[in-house]
Amino acid sequence: MKLNWGMIGGGEGSQIGPAHRLGAQADGNFTLAAGALDVDAARGKAFAQRLGVAADRAYGNWQEMLEGERNRDDRVDLVTVATPNSTHFEITKAFLEAGFHVLCEKPMTMTVEEGEEILKVARRTGRICAVNYCYSAYPMVREMRAMVRKGEIGKVRLVVANFSHGHHADAAQADNPRVRWRYDPKMAGVSGQFADCGIHALHMASFVVGDEVRELSADFASTIASRELEDDAMVNFRMEGGTVGRLWSSSVAIGRQHGFDIQIFGETGGLRWASEQPNQVYYTPLGGRTQIMEKGEAGLSDEAARLSRVPIAHPEGFPLAVANIYQDLAAAIRGEPRDGLPGAEDGLRSMAAVHACVESARGRGTWVDARPPMLR
Ligand code: NAI
Repeated sequence: MKLNWGMIGGGEGSQIGPAHRLGAQADGNFTLAAGALDVDAARGKAFAQRLGVAADRAYGNWQEMLEGERNRDDRVDLVTVATPNSTHFEITKAFLEAGFHVLCEKPMTMTVEEGEEILKVARRTGRICAVNYCYSAYPMVREMRAMVRKGEIGKVRLVVANFSHGHHADAAQADNPRVRWRYDPKMAGVSGQFADCGIHALHMASFVVGDEVRELSADFASTIASRELEDDAMVNFRMEGGTVGRLWSSSVAIGRQHGFDIQIFGETGGLRWASEQPNQVYYTPLGGRTQIMEKGEAGLSDEAARLSRVPIAHPEGFPLAVANIYQDLAAAIRGEPRDGLPGAEDGLRSMAAVHACVESARGRGTWVDARPPMLR
């Protein structure tokens, strides 16, 4: 049976809205049945109806949507929260408390306390609170995780991750409103680039290695002087099991485009993956030659095979990684949970890491416990 889906944010012209609509509807699991898509009520209602939402379920804001949906027999099974960061907490909490499953955009909250509150509400209500760490749903990222789990590169010694692009490098554009808010604490919170992009890389490090970050040391810089929050972050970390981590996240790295890549170095081999070439993993066994593993080839793990949507050698894109998140959400809502769906614990760990980085950077790189109190 098809599930009913509702969306908050992701209005016309938004960056992430289209990836959610393609992702949710790719497999026929979800019908867009309700929405409060825009901060401008009239624009949001009109756009929802153009997308096929019935007029009485095209809402002016999320509070109206909560009231309108909560008592319907055919109420939405899943709500996606794709609004700016500062609104995630109250919207996600309200819908979880009303018994809806939620997919929240990252960062899940602005503070660690809010993150803990979301995790508590999700646990109490038994509702799914997933967080859109969608890069973890690329087939070849799952392949790396399966290889690490099977011990194919031995114990992981070192993980090096970057999420560094150059798209906010133009000082003349620093006051452009679309760029400026990301470095304004009132709009973005305690961290700029690390909370925006660095947490994807940190989540992926934990996801592939299969371990969590225990402590970290951060150096933050605002390389464009008018920016209050950092546009460049270098973070060293140690995982619970002893793996050493290095993470660089920047928005002033001219020449780097998307700029998200990860390398995992074990005792008997190394792996490398980059979001700009998501179909390949480079695998080098100790003392051997580098091999290029290709999405769709024979002999990959069941997880990588399950999440491959197009035949070998054809391009596989970002919306399909988001579609993999929705595919697993539909299965989980139907009571068949699958391994690998990023959840509220991941969202909370990211917030704890963001705040630990800020504390460390203010202390000139002192090592700080990165674990949220609730998960120590
Ligand atoms: P955007 O500024 O392009 O779009 C935001 C949309 O939300 C607009 O349509 C706006 O009208 C609407 N909106 C704002 N306040 C609202 C409210 N109170 N109620 C209903 N709608 C509201 O923002 P963008 O880039 O799409 O980011 C949205 C969220 O998605 C952010 O939290 C961001 O961090 C996250 N994101 C995640 C990505 C990923 O890779 N997982 C990639 C890009 C963004």
